[in-house]
Amino acid sequence: GRVAVVMGGSSAEREVSLDSGRNVLAALQARGVDAHAIDGIPALLDALRAGHFARVFNILHGQHGGGEDGVLQGALESLHVPYTGSGVLGSALSMDKTRSKRVWQSLGLPTPKFVPLPRGADVYAAAKQIGFPLIVKPSCEGSSVGVTRVFQEKDLDAAVALAEKYPGDLLMEALIEGDELTVGILGRQVLPSIHIVPKGAFYDYNAKYVAEDTRYICPGLEGEREASLRALTLEAFDALGCHGWGRVDVMRDTQGRNWLLEVNTAPGMTSHSLVPKAAAVSGIDYQELCWRVLETSFR
Ligand code: DAL
Ligand code: MG
Repeated sequence: GRVAVVMGGSSAEREVSLDSGRNVLAALQARGVDAHAIDGIPALLDALRAGHFARVFNILHGQHGGGEDGVLQGALESLHVPYTGSGVLGSALSMDKTRSKRVWQSLGLPTPKFVPLPRGADVYAAAKQIGFPLIVKPSCEGSSVGVTRVFQEKDLDAAVALAEKYPGDLLMEALIEGDELTVGILGRQVLPSIHIVPKGAFYDYNAKYVAEDTRYICPGLEGEREASLRALTLEAFDALGCHGWGRVDVMRDTQGRNWLLEVNTAPGMTSHSLVPKAAAVSGIDYQELCWRVLETSFR
């Protein structure tokens, strides 16, 4: 049947999603799939009610109309339309970094020390608990939007003001110094890790989608280290009730300990994105990757 590739939407990651979506659409069409682009949740639901599509490839990113936070997944369940990726619970929990961390903590999985910051919370008291350097971020955004690394108290207010521009609560987290790693999951296959080496100090929005000088090393680790990182990320993914596909972001500190940051349940699929790079190293080209993700809706 016809496949709706739903992209865009109204989240802060709209542009990233459109970029991901156009690439996915072209790849599926090249594979002979009768795939069509749909922008945003309202248009998708109208088309589904009119009976235009048999299944949904969800490449929306973010919350609030972003389609990555469980809301769209619930609507699709009600309409009995199969869709790619995680369901309501895994999507909603992964979108909320603070609650993801609470689940991991309760299972003894490593995640950086943190203080949830509801709006109006005493950020100075929170910073005393964490110590510097620390990170301030919106709890429910992606692509590093609204994220600041804070090295001294005088920079706290600006970091909080930036994060507060986005909806929802904030999160203050200890900054782990070391290497940034990410691990893609496709079905039950864990892809090789990627070690991200940004030219600047931080893998921010610019380094993610604009700069051409970020380096990627894949696999990011070797031997037993790589194996234990992959096992940890699969455990973290399962712990949040995720399935289908996703990507787990991790920091590895200078002593070689891994710290879980977050799970992305609709990871970027742009030409700069990470899951496509890791898949390629495993011999899965972009078209095949899109097909395999589409297959996660066959359940
Ligand atoms: N949130 C962006 C799209 C990612 O994780 O790739
Ligand atoms: Mg994310």
